[in-house]
Amino acid sequence: MATQSILITGGAGFIGSHLVRHMVKRYPDYRIVNLDLLTYAGNLENLRDVEEAPNYTFVKGDILDAALLDELFASFHFDGIIHLAAESHVDRSIADPMAFIRTNVLGTVQLLHAALKYWQENLDQHRFYHVSTDEVYGSLGETGYFTETTPYDPRSPYSASKASSDHFVRAFHHTYGLPIVISNCSNNYGPYQFPEKLIPLMINNIRTGKPLPVYGDGQYTRDWLWVEDHTRAIDLIYHQGRVGQTYNIGGHNEWKNIDLVHTLCDIMDELMGKPAGSSRQLIHFVKDRPGHDRRYAIDASKLAAELGWAPSIQTDEGLRRTAQWYLTHAEWLESVTSGEYRHYYEQQYQHR
Ligand code: NAD
Ligand code: DAU
Repeated sequence: MATQSILITGGAGFIGSHLVRHMVKRYPDYRIVNLDLLTYAGNLENLRDVEEAPNYTFVKGDILDAALLDELFASFHFDGIIHLAAESHVDRSIADPMAFIRTNVLGTVQLLHAALKYWQENLDQHRFYHVSTDEVYGSLGETGYFTETTPYDPRSPYSASKASSDHFVRAFHHTYGLPIVISNCSNNYGPYQFPEKLIPLMINNIRTGKPLPVYGDGQYTRDWLWVEDHTRAIDLIYHQGRVGQTYNIGGHNEWKNIDLVHTLCDIMDELMGKPAGSSRQLIHFVKDRPGHDRRYAIDASKLAAELGWAPSIQTDEGLRRTAQWYLTHAEWLESVTSGEYRHYYEQQYQHR
């Protein structure tokens, strides 16, 4: 495979750090540049094991900073971009939509502009990969799946901002010929996920004996995917996906929230040596998320048929590995849950 210089944005976040690690290790001849603003969700601790790698460069900065993008394109002559930088938490988007419009919409357009400017002489030799979410498709009833042709119907400020960014990416392809590819993935889980999201939040609360806040009736359904299966899919799509195409990524692995929380409680009881059933007693049904999408489920058959991708592990094993990881990385959890997190947690959960 020819050597490449790739810009990964948001590489210090949850999925981004798994992707950076994967690419740095799998492609020692590539130059991997990680541009990340290090918001509350970005953490260089996530990348300690690759920070000294000779093919890796970290740059702290904002995707909205046009001058910085100019500098980076001029220095590193990127062949491709894999764009993950985003505000990613639905509850935060309900509290502060503007931050989501800024990074997810304006930031994506800034990046598209820079790519077009630097690549216009030989567009076909480049690739702009936009990492998106299944939430752009809205909410499903009891049956059915999201396919790549499901009409967009975003219902939260987060999903509206991601849908908008997807539209801009496609517009730059149709209008200017920018060679793009987009993937829309379901809920990821695994190590290094910030404990504002369901699984790490529940693990952390079980670990510290705090109430487990289940929104509404707990019957909401998500399709969970092991994060390394997502990064493997991104690698495949980046290298082999067809230009202009969209690929859905998902685990065919639907769980109602309450069933997932029960399973996590049982795994944690076992790993922490607590009496069976004790963590379940921490469960509290709390006020629902406004506009809460009832069910997400992905049909990933296009990705399977075209690129031979399939998820690698079952959830029971994935949840066990995840719980084990958080229990053996208590310092990581302690450091990310101090400061800003405490304030966020109080604001988010005090009136529920
Ligand atoms: P995350 O919140 O863990 O990480 C986001 C990263 O982006 C952080 O490191 C943050 O510092 C960085 N960032 C934020 N604003 C920035 C800016 N203006 N400039 C540069 N960097 C900035 O997010 P995640 O869960 O890893 O998600 C990554 C991407 O994948 C997002 O685009 C998200 O929409 C998408 N996605 C996530 C999931 C999921 O389940 N987590 C599923 C499907 C798609
Ligand atoms: O589907 C992909 C999306 O998955 C990504 O695009 C988002 O970036 C990611 O955050 C995730 O969105 P969700 O809103 O589905 O994930 P979250 O972990 O916030 O919530 C999962 C489900 O659990 C959802 O139905 C809300 C519920 N929940 C969440 C929290 C934080 C609770 O019941 N209690 C909680 O405290």
